[in-house]
Amino acid sequence: MSTSDNVRIAPADGKLGILIPGIGAVSTTFMAGVEAVKRGLGVPVGSLTQLATIRLGKRTDNRTPYIRDFVPLAGLDDLVFGGWDIYEDTAYDAAANARVLEATLLEKVREPLEAIKPMKAVFDPEYVRRINGPNVKQAGSKMDKAEMLMEDIREFQSGTGASRLVMIWCGSTEVFHRPAAVHQSLKDFECGLMKNDPDIAPSQIYAYAALKLGVPYANGAPNLTTDTPALLELARDRQVPICGKDFKTGQTFMKTLLAPGLKARMLGMSGWFSTNILGNRDGEVLEDPGSFKTKEETKLSVLEQILQPHLHPELYKDLYHAVRINYYPPRGDAKEGWDNIDIFGWLGYPMQIKIDFLCRDSILAAPLVLDLVLFLDLAQRAGMKGIQEWLSFYFKGPMTAPGLYPEHDIFIQLMKLKNTLRWMRGEDLITHLGLEYYD
Ligand SMILES: NC(=O)c1ccc[n+]([C@@H]2O[C@H](COP(=O)([O-])OP(=O)(O)OC[C@H]3O[C@@H](n4cnc5c(N)ncnc54)[C@H](O)[C@@H]3O)[C@@H](O)[C@H]2O)c1
Repeated sequence: MSTSDNVRIAPADGKLGILIPGIGAVSTTFMAGVEAVKRGLGVPVGSLTQLATIRLGKRTDNRTPYIRDFVPLAGLDDLVFGGWDIYEDTAYDAAANARVLEATLLEKVREPLEAIKPMKAVFDPEYVRRINGPNVKQAGSKMDKAEMLMEDIREFQSGTGASRLVMIWCGSTEVFHRPAAVHQSLKDFECGLMKNDPDIAPSQIYAYAALKLGVPYANGAPNLTTDTPALLELARDRQVPICGKDFKTGQTFMKTLLAPGLKARMLGMSGWFSTNILGNRDGEVLEDPGSFKTKEETKLSVLEQILQPHLHPELYKDLYHAVRINYYPPRGDAKEGWDNIDIFGWLGYPMQIKIDFLCRDSILAAPLVLDLVLFLDLAQRAGMKGIQEWLSFYFKGPMTAPGLYPEHDIFIQLMKLKNTLRWMRGEDLITHLGLEYYD
């Protein structure tokens, strides 16, 4: 610790174990990508922890180190992977099935990927309806299953020799549900686990197991999961950092780039229609109205929060916002998203903007997984606990303290993230005031 640091950050010694419920398109693209980067076969494009710099002090100071040199992060060579899935496919087979990465590249990282065999999942077809698989824990109550997961985690840790762990949900999107009585306190939740309460989702059993063992938890899907008083209580009790929900990639990423710009210029908006086609397993699960509803909630809330129609009724009060997702197998993971935006300017004169984004979902999501696990591990070593709002940058539906509205503007989120790192190391926060240059 240097004399100026605001927090003591333990060194990133030893291996960091990454535990992933859901060995599908996103997680295998992430793991294969890390193995490829380690071998010099590719560049970790899209990752702040690997590529971004951070300005320190005044613009005239010329101090812009890489983030990875400014704060102590785990190195890629120190990452070890494990996970759970309802299918028995190794990470190599799952990556081959997902058809995100080329076969020639996958072949070069075949060995480490083949060694990743999914542990038996905690699964409930009531929560994810379109898929079913054989690799599932069968007997016992939900509490028994949580204990089995804890045993899996301990075995993984002793088998790999990892000194620290992080868990990140890359499983399918569960059906929409609101917090119920069983989520109101940790006591209620533990009682519910023993009584097999139907309101407890599989993702919450994984989160419970992780938090109980002091393992930080990130939620890459829009599921409720840790966004409940019970699991927040557990995270605080065990002094564990958590963050979520729903990786901000593709169409919503575009929305949070464009909408703050239009709002900044006080341009009006009467409609935003988003539709897309995708053909991966995620798209198949989202065909189910229950899972789509969960996704729709995070996708729709973004514009409302950015545009603040209650403050600017003349610009945004009649905004019509719709989001559609269509499962279309021929496209696989290569999604196409269309946006039609009806805006208006001076004296209400209408204009239109069209976006056609031919994106690759998992290619956009993989660097987010990497940054999140490295930053959550940093937060843990810095003694930060509970919701990590500075990681909002990565999410469509950022978790916040109860009663606080989330910040969706990606540039504010980036400033928040970098200022948190500056704060950790006792550097001046950057306000962009800049009057000192003109004294
Ligand atoms: N790719 C993106 O850009 C993006 C963006 C935001 C959110 N997400 C979310 O990330 C998640 C993963 O996306 P993906 O494209 O990899 O999907 P995928 O369908 O390829 O992978 C998900 C995997 O989770 C497994 N699974 C489902 N329930 C499980 C359980 N209870 N335990 C263990 N495994 C379980 C499935 O069998 C599947 O293999 C989805 O929820 C998706 O909505 C993805």
